[in-house]
Order: sequence, then structure tokens, then C-alpha cells
Amino acid sequence: MKIAVTRRIPEAGVEVLINAYGREHIRLCEEDSAMTRDALLDFIAGADAILSTVTDTLDAEAMDAAGPDLKVIANMAVGYDNISLEAAAARGIQVTNTPGVLTEATADLAWTLILGAARRAGEAERCLRAGHWDGWGPLQFLGRSVYGQTLGIFGMGRIGRAVARRARGFDMTILYHDAKPLDEETEQHLAARRVEKEVLLRNADILSIHCPLTPETRHAFTINEFRQMKRTAMLVNTSRGPVVKEEDLCVALHEGLIDAAGLDVYEYEPCVYPGLLLEERAFLLPHLGSATVETRGTMAHIAAENIVAALAGRVPPNKVVPGE
Ligand code: GLV
Repeated sequence: MKIAVTRRIPEAGVEVLINAYGREHIRLCEEDSAMTRDALLDFIAGADAILSTVTDTLDAEAMDAAGPDLKVIANMAVGYDNISLEAAAARGIQVTNTPGVLTEATADLAWTLILGAARRAGEAERCLRAGHWDGWGPLQFLGRSVYGQTLGIFGMGRIGRAVARRARGFDMTILYHDAKPLDEETEQHLAARRVEKEVLLRNADILSIHCPLTPETRHAFTINEFRQMKRTAMLVNTSRGPVVKEEDLCVALHEGLIDAAGLDVYEYEPCVYPGLLLEERAFLLPHLGSATVETRGTMAHIAAENIVAALAGRVPPNKVVPGE
């Protein structure tokens, strides 16, 4: 039995694997950075199972490099757009993810971006740290109010709903767009109204993206969408970078088509579109959605448990079912 863990992960996950298979059967990458492509292909060769992260691209080539023993890829993430489900299905490889456990942490981070971008926290901190702050000023770093505004949620899954729950404390009007309507009880509980994408674009003061990355959602936000938004609006993205065409967002901020953006994810991670780095009104974090000690520990534990279940011939608890 050979289990390849492609990156340094919290001990909670490693322990599960060591208890199940013994240390000698686990190939642990001790690096805290993503492997090069060649190193990854080498590292996973001969594996029965791979515990992967969002920085590993696991496509047909990688699966073939792993070889015929590979039975399961357990992604330590809720998103799994880094894994080719078609290639996995064609080779009888199961894919699992870690849904649910990172919902609240990611919703908290979306709110960090909402409040940080609305109140110009990044710009203000940069000014203070640079030693440029000369004391309180009546016109200094005036941001925008969040309380009582209209929140638009694009993608009303677990994380979108958790963001909406928090918005109730801010007395916001909540609109959402999702192909699948919420049931009536949840809609009432969240006081959320389903609308067409165009209505969301036109009405949101804050538009927060929570859909998975799929061929349908890639570049769902381009200059065409930004032109329809309020000039005072803010875009927030904690889902996947390629949902937003970053070059267009940069133009939209630069030309004042929208007022601000809060981003945790990028189209070509870890690269950020250079122009965005120059936009003071972009509040930028480095893909931290689930990054709390508790959440990452639980994610590692769950990913490892999925491997143990799959290799024991059981249906892993978080098996990804395409289209669900
Ligand atoms: C992180 O981005 C995840 O999908 O869990």
C-alpha cells in the first residue's frame, strides 16, 4: 500500500494514515510549497491513493504517471476543479473532497473581504505602516457603509447561504442567483430572493461569488457584467479565480465601472494580474478561505478518512459525484 501526500498537511490527517497503514507506507512531502509538475509526477508514481491539495493538477497524464494501482484521489478542499473527473472515471479512480467543514471559515473570510474592501482597510493599513499617517482626518479613507445595503450572492450553495446568514446581522436586502432555487423555508429563513443574473448585477451593492468553477461559470464576470453593475458596487470572490476575468476586473476598477473588489482567489494562482496589484481599491488576500487551524485540521482528517474508506472497499463519505 502506498499513500502519497503531496504537501505538508496538518498532523490530524497524517495520523489517520499512519494509524491505518504504518509510517513506512506513507510518502509524505515535507515541503510547504507546491511541487513542480515533474516532481509531482515522480512523487505519485505507484501510489494506491493520493492526498492532494488545490495546487496539484491531477489530469489524465498525472493519473497515468501514478499508475494502475491508483484507486482514490482525496482532495483536501471543497473545490475539485484541479482534478479531471472524466480522466478519473475512465480509470475507475474515485475522487473525494471535504465539503461542509470549511463553510463557516470561508463565509467568515468573505465577510473579511466585504468589510475590508468597503472600509478601505488594506489601503489604510499600508499608509499607516509606511509611516504616512498624520492623524485623524474628516475626509480620510472614507469607505462605504455595509449596513442596510443590498447583498447579491452568485451561487447559493452551503457557503453562499452561510454568507447570507451573516448578512442578516447587517440588516441587508439579500438577492441571489443560482440555477437551483432554495426551498421556500430556507428562502424565508434567510430572507433571500432569487433573481436573474442581470437583476443581481444591477441591484447589488456588494456582489459576492460562491459558485464552483465549471465550464459554465468560467469568466461569468467580464467587462460586460461590470458595465451592468452600480458604479458604487463592490465585487467579492472567495470561490475560484477564473470565474472572474481578472484583466477586465482591473479595467473596471481603473475606469470606475465599479468601486472596489475583495479577492481571495486568482485566475492564474499564484500569479495576480499585475494591474490589480496597483489598484488601491482592490483588497487582496492569498487564498485563505479555509485557513483556520481548526478547519484545516478537520479537512486533513476528512481527506485521510476518505482514503481509508476507499481503500477498504467502502464508498468514501465524500465521494464526488459529477453534476451534484
Ligand atoms: C479551497 O479553495 C477549497 O476549495 O477548499
